[in-house]
Amino acid sequence: MRNQHSMLFSSVIAATVLASTQAYGESEHFGKTADGQDVEVYTLKNESGAIVKLITLGATLTEMHVPDKDGKSADVVLGFDDVAGYQSEDNQYFGVTAGRVANRIAKGKFSLNGKDYTLAVNNEPNHLHGGVKRSLDKVIWKAKEVKTKLGVGVRFSYTSPDGEEGYPGKLHVSVTYILSNKRNSVRINYTAKTDQPTPVNLTNHSYFNLAGAGSKTVLGHTLTIAADKYTPTDDTLIPTGKIESVEGTDLDFREPTRIGKRIKSLDDTAAIGYDHNYVLTRQDVKAGELAVAARLRDPKSGRILVVRTTEPGIQFYSGNFLKDQKGKGGKTYAHRSALCLETQHYPDSINHPNFPSVVLKPGETYKHVCVYSFTAK
Ligand code: GLA
Repeated sequence: MRNQHSMLFSSVIAATVLASTQAYGESEHFGKTADGQDVEVYTLKNESGAIVKLITLGATLTEMHVPDKDGKSADVVLGFDDVAGYQSEDNQYFGVTAGRVANRIAKGKFSLNGKDYTLAVNNEPNHLHGGVKRSLDKVIWKAKEVKTKLGVGVRFSYTSPDGEEGYPGKLHVSVTYILSNKRNSVRINYTAKTDQPTPVNLTNHSYFNLAGAGSKTVLGHTLTIAADKYTPTDDTLIPTGKIESVEGTDLDFREPTRIGKRIKSLDDTAAIGYDHNYVLTRQDVKAGELAVAARLRDPKSGRILVVRTTEPGIQFYSGNFLKDQKGKGGKTYAHRSALCLETQHYPDSINHPNFPSVVLKPGETYKHVCVYSFTAK
């Protein structure tokens, strides 16, 4: 069931489409949550043939169709065909907006301005990706189609009440996805405002396989990460607080490297593969400006993903916990058959004063931009 606003918007866009570009946005009913809330799906297309789908549950990116080197399109992100899939145990944050604080907070505890806070422990013994029932990936966001010079998009907004999932402050969050008209790139703009000091660290949790979601593995993909350093972790994946060089380690991706090349040596670690936060070099790039964070290439399809961000870190997660769940079109998502490149502040920053701060104060605006650009050759 389309809402009135989007119908109006779609027809305005449709007229513009015919007149100038082929880009447009429209929404349809996607399904209902277990407790009966409506979930809408928005479709964006551009003139180079890319298609993006987004749903209001979790402000989630559900589909990303981009051409390979021969012009053949495939959906390169993991997801489900229906709301039940997204609400099932099989959903390991596929494509979602993670927060209020993405990644882990040690033992679900932190102190702020002399007050102690306790959050849900949902990833023993730690708090992961904002909590259990009302983390940002599990709530229904308001959506509004937007049209910018760059392209069409959807602006999702959500107000998280004071104390939701144990976090202080009423938080207004907005996440805008824009599909570029000319290039196959998706720009994600995040903003947030609060009425009390509170930690905020948002990210997009898309799982990519550039050969197409459901392809067997990403171990043949080549990855480059623009980072000389990373944040080592303990055996519960909480940073020790140190910042160390990647030089001479299996984590060094400064030069394009096949993901499978050294992953075996990480099999017996707590992460069971790559699940590390890299400290982005951002050389000569000012705060608030985009810098290239990572480049991923699948040699067979020729598809290339370049990730750019304003954030100081990126979590490279090699899909180690994927467990053969059934996704879109009945495809199976095997161990390491997709990977995440999550632009973010460092995990557990709220408990590490030496890391860039994640505390948002009243009067300030949290801002984060992440751009995923796809080409092929
Ligand atoms: C992040 C974490 C991983 C894992 C995934 C979700 O990337 O770092 O350890 O929890 O999310 O499955």
